[in-house]
Amino acid sequence: MWHPALRKGAKPIYEQLIEGLERDVINGALPPGDKLPPQRDLAYRLKIGVGTVTKVYAEARRRGLLTATVGRGSFVAPSGEAKSAEGNRTVDFSRNISPHNAAAARLGDALIALRRRADLAEHLSYPPPAGVTAHRRAGAGWLARSAGIVDVDWKRLLVCEGGQHALALAFSSLCRPGDTVMTEAATFFGVKALAEQLGLHLLGLKMDDQGLLPDALDRAAAGGAKILYTIPTLQNPTGRVMGAKRRGEIAKIARERNLTLVEDDVYAPFAQGDGLPPPIATLVPERTFYTASLSKIIAPGLRCGYLLVPDEDRLERVIRTVRAYSYAPAGFGALIATQWIEDGTADEIATSVRREIVTRAKLTGQILGKAIEGPHVSGAPHVWLPMSELTAERVAGRALREGVSVTPPSAPIVDAREMAGLRLCIGAPADLAALERGLRVVESALSDAPGVSGRGVV
Ligand SMILES: Cc1ncc(COP(=O)(O)O)c(C=O)c1O
Repeated sequence: MWHPALRKGAKPIYEQLIEGLERDVINGALPPGDKLPPQRDLAYRLKIGVGTVTKVYAEARRRGLLTATVGRGSFVAPSGEAKSAEGNRTVDFSRNISPHNAAAARLGDALIALRRRADLAEHLSYPPPAGVTAHRRAGAGWLARSAGIVDVDWKRLLVCEGGQHALALAFSSLCRPGDTVMTEAATFFGVKALAEQLGLHLLGLKMDDQGLLPDALDRAAAGGAKILYTIPTLQNPTGRVMGAKRRGEIAKIARERNLTLVEDDVYAPFAQGDGLPPPIATLVPERTFYTASLSKIIAPGLRCGYLLVPDEDRLERVIRTVRAYSYAPAGFGALIATQWIEDGTADEIATSVRREIVTRAKLTGQILGKAIEGPHVSGAPHVWLPMSELTAERVAGRALREGVSVTPPSAPIVDAREMAGLRLCIGAPADLAALERGLRVVESALSDAPGVSGRGVV
């Protein structure tokens, strides 16, 4: 039976209750389908007025946290993922999706605020190709708060339809078919897909526990490669994080070898508070295309991301690409995102998502132990289990037979001589119970896999 703790003299009771209810639904303490106590019972036990409880339940229904049936009472609403997990008991570790209950809980308010906007109808027209000015300014503010990239000139910032779109715009305006792009030896699958589409050759470079190795970059650049795509923070798939010194070394080589960088920073908001150094773009802004997205830390359905370009010339080139592909970015996702950035809701959602991922990361560490590399920060949404390609395929196959899907081991690999392993996206399972169930299956699939570090621990 739900019995929230109330603190005297802290926030008003109503706020404490609605926040507590939301927190318990998000972290799985109140799983989907659980019955809430009758309003009178809860009011009696908490020694508060029944009117307050009625108001809290009504607000929770409006936020999509509860459902109510006359005569039966109030129940925790099933999340989209929970519904499908209930159906077939599958657990999905394959896609990098963060829990978006916190955003879902605020969506109703955001739509009400949208309806009240005097300028709403203006958004039915074509937006400017780089996005609405207010959205670009808000994006610049968000990057300062969430990724430590301060003093962003919003006039060099484009609003995009997510991180993938930002990357597509950067590479389409930078490269010609046949060009070589240097990447980490294992990288974001979306960039492999993009390279195939654009006819680009990817050159995977050696990594260590901080990601890309400067020596490997220098050698490849000496061989004539001119463009580097890198993910310095919570590298996908490995979760590695470049320290300040490493970032400086990469920037120095970029300057000396006249390289252009595409720095993908979609995971930076997860590492804020872990002493994260500023992005490489702050060291060599004149040669870096910097990409960011709200998909992971707020919600992917907003399709809102950002591309920061080095200068006006390059901005013009990217705008020509925008014109050719979509004429202008879609505006409504960015409109909600901008509202949330401006009124502080985005920060609240980010804090909630980060907290949830930290909890999940702890549980993952407890169950998989030393089979996991790192941890590189306290709340990484994906973890990396180094092992041979063959072992990874076998573990993935065994897990799948038990209803647990992981990222196909070959998907992120650029140079199979340098990297092999298994990636688990721990934000994707519906709740902590599903996460634990999936982790137990992986633990068992690992237990008799040869060559997994930490074998015997897991
Ligand atoms: C490193 C990296 N960059 C970009 C993206 C794409 O972001 P979005 O979903 O906003 O298109 C992802 C998504 O998985 C990613 O992992």
